[in-house]
Amino acid sequence: MTFVITENCIKCKYTDCVDVCPVDCFHEGPNFLVIDPDECIDCTLCEPECPANAIFSEDEVPESQQHFIALNAELAKSWPTITEVKGASDEAENWNGKPNKLDLLER
Ligand code: SF4
Ligand code: F3S
Repeated sequence: MTFVITENCIKCKYTDCVDVCPVDCFHEGPNFLVIDPDECIDCTLCEPECPANAIFSEDEVPESQQHFIALNAELAKSWPTITEVKGASDEAENWNGKPNKLDLLER
């Protein structure tokens, strides 16, 4: 089991989640974070920390977000680890809750 970051993180990237993770399983891209499923120990700590409610347990990922399970695994392989909170993206509050952000994902 792993936790998964979904679409609402895109262009928000608050990074609060990173602070509570006991292992280094978060990886950072230009405007999105992912969780490495091979590193996540399923501790549940990060889920309530996300102001964008973007983190779900793998078995609770909404139907419309299922493709993010594979996307987290894929991008975690190439993006660098992030271990410290950086603060949100400049326009995080504007983007929080906006639909259809997948096309805006930068790799
Ligand atoms: Fe890290 Fe725990 Fe969240 Fe997994 S569930 S990403 S181990 S904080
Ligand atoms: Fe993204 Fe939420 Fe973490 S917006 S960076 S999953 S705190």
